[in-house]
Amino acid sequence: MRLRVLVPVTTCNMRPAHTPIEGRAGKLRLDFNENTVGCSAAALRAIRKLTAEQIATYPEYLTPTGKMARWFGVKPAELTLTNGADGALQHIVYTFVDSQSTILLIDPTFVMYRFYAQLSGAKIASLQYDTEMKFPVGAVMKALRKSPRLFLIANPNNPTGTLIPAAIIRRMLDAAPRTLFVVDEAYAEFSRVTVLPWIRRYPNLIVVRTFSKGAGLAGLRLGCMFACPEVTSLLAKTREPFAVNTAALVAAYATLRNYGAVRRYAKEITVARSLLSKALQRYGVKMFPSAANFLLVDFGTAAPGLLSELKKRGILLRDRTSDFGRVGYVRITIGTQPQMRRLVRDLARLLPGKKS
Ligand SMILES: Cc1ncc(COP(=O)(O)O)c(C=O)c1O
Repeated sequence: MRLRVLVPVTTCNMRPAHTPIEGRAGKLRLDFNENTVGCSAAALRAIRKLTAEQIATYPEYLTPTGKMARWFGVKPAELTLTNGADGALQHIVYTFVDSQSTILLIDPTFVMYRFYAQLSGAKIASLQYDTEMKFPVGAVMKALRKSPRLFLIANPNNPTGTLIPAAIIRRMLDAAPRTLFVVDEAYAEFSRVTVLPWIRRYPNLIVVRTFSKGAGLAGLRLGCMFACPEVTSLLAKTREPFAVNTAALVAAYATLRNYGAVRRYAKEITVARSLLSKALQRYGVKMFPSAANFLLVDFGTAAPGLLSELKKRGILLRDRTSDFGRVGYVRITIGTQPQMRRLVRDLARLLPGKKS
């Protein structure tokens, strides 16, 4: 049997995804930058309260959009709810990019940027973080002179964990009014840095957020994006009618109403991050400064053995070899202090010649 249907060249050129997402239940999940303790009790209660009728009904967005907009301090006309931050990225590319466009990326960065860029058939212009994971401001300013259609940046960046200072983002925005900037703040709860208020100053800025990380709702898939009303109304033209589900909406709003739980979690993560980085420093492991709930480290040639030994002990870390073209780089999601102590204990046993 042979498929005789014509397939677009962009689809043929895609590589099958190899996301190691299966069989993670019950393990210490330090591999996908999720919340490692679970969503808030308030979110869980809100989902449990859903009625059979609510679940049988297509979701309504007007009221939830209004309530969430109020919480974020924006107008409903500046907010779009999406199926995860991934849904926001896909929607942005779909709305603003065609095969004649150029998309600017700084590698290594969140893998889905390249994924959606490739699917769109657009030209990809990519620059590199340097070996110290510094953002290449000079090269970016030069690339912006050509006014790429779209510039996707994660702040803090995944997988490096590094933060681009707001002053640099402002310089770039000022220099390229014809480029649409997407500042993906998936880890804003941890960095506590945002350019969200700037959507009132820059019509070419979209800020993306997610409820998958600090809020612990990754399994429900909710993201959102903020932009000026003109951009939001363009996005509304290409929006699927029911991309966001009812359970995600009620859980997200319950999370926002009880935001103290997210704040406490983010605080715990900051303390635990410093606990882990101090231990890694003692062990002489190279790492990079992080403003997020993960740490990029370089275990060198010890990495593959270390990852598989930790996996046997029920601890999952994320190999980032594919980002750097050599083994060694590993991204470690930060969990609570007890979870980090467990990791440190095992690392002490496994790292060649190290004692805790
Ligand atoms: C920078 C960045 N943006 C977006 C996402 C996707 O988030 P979501 O689960 O909301 O699709 C991730 C997930 O790892 C991420 O690291």
